[in-house]
Amino acid sequence: MMRPNRPIAALAAALCAALAQPAAAAEEINLYSGRHYDGDVLLYQGFEAATGIKVNVIEGKADEIVARLEAEGEASPADVFITADAGNLWRAESKGLLQAVDSETLAARIPEAYRDPGNMWFGFSRRARIIFVAKGQIDPALVQTYEDLARPELKGKLCMRSGSAIYNLSLLGALIEDWGAEKAEAWAAGIVANLAKAPQGGDTDQIKAVAAGECAVTLANTYYFVRLAGSDKPEDKAIADKVQAIFPDQAGRGAHVNISGAAVTKNAPNRAGAVKFLEYLASDEAQKYFAVGNNEYPIADGTTGNAALDSLGAFKADPVNVAAYGKNQAEAQAIMDRVGWK
Ligand SMILES: [Fe+2]
Repeated sequence: MMRPNRPIAALAAALCAALAQPAAAAEEINLYSGRHYDGDVLLYQGFEAATGIKVNVIEGKADEIVARLEAEGEASPADVFITADAGNLWRAESKGLLQAVDSETLAARIPEAYRDPGNMWFGFSRRARIIFVAKGQIDPALVQTYEDLARPELKGKLCMRSGSAIYNLSLLGALIEDWGAEKAEAWAAGIVANLAKAPQGGDTDQIKAVAAGECAVTLANTYYFVRLAGSDKPEDKAIADKVQAIFPDQAGRGAHVNISGAAVTKNAPNRAGAVKFLEYLASDEAQKYFAVGNNEYPIADGTTGNAALDSLGAFKADPVNVAAYGKNQAEAQAIMDRVGWK
């Protein structure tokens, strides 16, 4: 009596099952992006070309995405959360919405200061939050440090973005880490005392206000200035021509640097694809896209391939781990509230 050939029978059954199914869909990842930069399409296209994995992008404000991830819970289709600012990544981490990734590639490519110590998120590009002054309106020697911005000589000369904007919360979080909360609060009170007008608008609005003479000094992220300086539009270039960039604290701790970063979400349906995407973001090719697409610095020192960005020159960065910004965020917000930096 012949026994049925089990391996062949199993293979035939599997083949029949496969034929009965529609063709398997191409692999894809779902990316929730809190970044607001047009150049990011280069990153998605580059990843798709390198891996064949399709990227589906949902964009929103970082806080809206965090709320969405919370609401979706285990059913969330998100694989990756990408956003500007370590403080935003921390908000997602603190709500348990991310998962750790152990990757030799990421550990090798990303300096420790720019990733979460528990590997919950990783920085992939850098921006410095630096001083911009109206050329000819103020002596640059007066404003060489963050502390200088609180000098009484600058009364009525500052424009600042809102104290609840994440970029300013993270800056204050860094200053709390570097100086202690007491000095950081005195500094924030000094900023408020020097304001020319109530905080309003984004970083570009602050630079425009300086160029327009509404105030003489402000803080903004480097890429907003480089975007204006490298613009094809004469009106943008004219704004950039009227202001001078100053990297603060070059004789001290160095300029405040923040990251754009990404993480694999807690319930990622395609975890392997998500990790591949993070590793792609650390590649030379993607690093170049951050620089040419959005005027950000690569995560590690190196050439940017962006002449307008390079024209700002090399600078010393505060070596503090960016994870401190999230850790100190609640305290920073409490200080902002107390000093009236609205
Ligand atoms: Fe931004």
